[in-house]
Amino acid sequence: MRILITGGTGLIGRQLCRVLLAEGHQLTVLSRRPATVAAKCGTAVQAMASLAEYSAGVCFDAVINLAGEPIADQSWSEKRKKALRDSRVELTHELVDRIAAAQCKPAVLLSASAIGFYADRGDLAQDESALAGHDFPAKLCVDWEAAALAAEKLGVRVCLLRSGLVLSRDGGLLERMVPPFKLGMGARIGNGRQWMSWIHIDDLVAMLVKLLHDENASGPYNLTAPNPVSNAEFTTTLAETLHRSARIAAPASLIKFTMGERACLLLEGQRILPSRMTESGYQFAFESLALALGNVLAK
Ligand SMILES: NC(=O)c1ccc[n+]([C@@H]2O[C@H](COP(=O)([O-])OP(=O)(O)OC[C@H]3O[C@@H](n4cnc5c(N)ncnc54)[C@H](OP(=O)(O)O)[C@@H]3O)[C@@H](O)[C@H]2O)c1
Repeated sequence: MRILITGGTGLIGRQLCRVLLAEGHQLTVLSRRPATVAAKCGTAVQAMASLAEYSAGVCFDAVINLAGEPIADQSWSEKRKKALRDSRVELTHELVDRIAAAQCKPAVLLSASAIGFYADRGDLAQDESALAGHDFPAKLCVDWEAAALAAEKLGVRVCLLRSGLVLSRDGGLLERMVPPFKLGMGARIGNGRQWMSWIHIDDLVAMLVKLLHDENASGPYNLTAPNPVSNAEFTTTLAETLHRSARIAAPASLIKFTMGERACLLLEGQRILPSRMTESGYQFAFESLALALGNVLAK
């Protein structure tokens, strides 16, 4: 297949490229730094510097839309919120416009979203039928998904990727968490009761490949492991995996003071179940957090 991947240079995209290249697909990656694509994604991958290059005569069989400014890195000023929206919602609108203008249309669009779509409903387990939340991340996901779903009217099969917290040795959440834990400074966040719905990157990428090929798959998919944990359990399991102790707690008031509105990313959580993936028969390689962390953090 000829596949266009936006954000293909990122944490998820790089591993996805490796797997899709091994399957023999022809890949094009949209990147603001096209000169880095070969080194990050593989020398066989073609770089696209701007969606303007996706002209009417260009043909892709599938499009995977992963682009987005990192949500946790900077405080959410109005300017930053606009950058977070533009790199997701506006980029997806433009992508769908390009698909509309293309003479040969892709059969499928896999488009990123996140479990931030859902509200913090405490211990209530939420599958794909649960309603969206109302905070900034939730509204961002709602608009991002709506932009992608517009491709359905063009006859394109659309899958919405509501990914959980991705566990990988190459970056993401663990890149930020592991260094303090290794110093014995690992801490529960607030009361530690907020849920963390995680996913091993190998399972995430395998699920994307499954959705790419399964002609009956469409709509939202929670891409999380079937056993989400509380922040307290995540903290204990990560500390045990690293043979360290983590007895301290970071007070919620301190997190709110230092992170402002962004504190919701740490102090709130969602207990998410990957019901549609489970029903599809997908077999998880990493169902337990201890197994996943043991694998990712193995030397
Ligand atoms: N990792 C997670 O735990 C997680 C969880 C839930 C959802 N997600 C979502 O899944 C998607 C992929 O995640 P990831 O972890 O692979 O993200 P990532 O490592 O931050 O990579 C995202 C990619 O998006 C591109 N990008 C960033 N800002 C952009 C902008 N202003 N305009 C156009 N492209 C831009 C970048 O490519 P270039 O620099 O090459 O242009 C970057 O490589 C993201 O949209 C993310 O929000 C991730």
